[in-house]
Amino acid sequence: HRLPELLRQMPKAELHIHIEGSLEPELIFALAQRNGVAIPYRTVEELRSAYAFTNLQSFLDIYYAGASVLLTEQDFYDMAQAYFARAAKDHVVHTELFFDPQTHTARGVSMETVVNGLHRACVDAKAELGLSASLIMCFLRHLSEEDAFATLEQALPYRDRIIGIGLDSGEVGNPPEKFSRVFARCRELGFHLVAHAGEEGPPAYVWTALDVLKVERIDHGVQSSKDAALMRRLAQDRIPLTVCPLSNLKLCVFPDLASHNLRQLLDAGLAVTVNSDDPAYFGGYMNENFTQTFAATGLAAQHAYALARNSFEASFIDASEKRVFI
Ligand code: HPA
Ligand code: ZN
Repeated sequence: HRLPELLRQMPKAELHIHIEGSLEPELIFALAQRNGVAIPYRTVEELRSAYAFTNLQSFLDIYYAGASVLLTEQDFYDMAQAYFARAAKDHVVHTELFFDPQTHTARGVSMETVVNGLHRACVDAKAELGLSASLIMCFLRHLSEEDAFATLEQALPYRDRIIGIGLDSGEVGNPPEKFSRVFARCRELGFHLVAHAGEEGPPAYVWTALDVLKVERIDHGVQSSKDAALMRRLAQDRIPLTVCPLSNLKLCVFPDLASHNLRQLLDAGLAVTVNSDDPAYFGGYMNENFTQTFAATGLAAQHAYALARNSFEASFIDASEKRVFI
């Protein structure tokens, strides 16, 4: 059919991908063996069968355990390189990767190791795949703002390799305003700012991400449809939402894909994008997110063009380069 072919072939940007969430079970096992790290699963199948999530926290517990096999610069390189190769097959031509340094520095892996490995993979992706890639460092919101400040300090020597700052991990009970001071500092330093908000948390968290943290994009943001005033604000200011349909399905944010509000958000004039979030855990990279969601919700070709255009408009690519895509 022509629509699935359009969805697969169209050039697109991916703006919501946690690189640690691209770690496939096979690579987890290979790295565990390479590094002599013990993991509490005997086989790839046994690990994969543990991927039955009921909410965000049930996923995060397994996601952080999976990341524990990452120790060396080469590990971070190999993880990112595998993602880039997979993304290029889905005609992703630009991506902005989230990484979670605190997951690694807490285990004694240095910021230098993490950033060097990921950055080298970004450079090679451009040269070998024609895929442009940049890095967004996320603070873990279940940890303290003090911890985030210490992480920012460790990252400053690598600031020219990091385009932006994000906020992820367990949302409910950890509102954006918990990080108001550190985000203000990141803003002064000239970083782009984004935050996860309105994934499981209320519309109030989307408001404070915008008005207190002053973020440029909202990651997820699907709960915004519960607040009409917020929907008007997002539409008027063309605030991008990086929506992740298969993630929302697997974390039970919506009971099924047919109930997903992607179409409602698009029809309200929001700058919505489609993304994979943690593709190794949620059963699909970019094109699976597009084809499954379009099939379930009855979206059509004009929506596909809008989503692709939005992904470049919402990206942090330089304005001069953006014109090539839009
Ligand atoms: N939400 C919050 N934290 C995360 C996610 C997510 O979808 N994926 C990886 N860390
Ligand atoms: Zn996410």
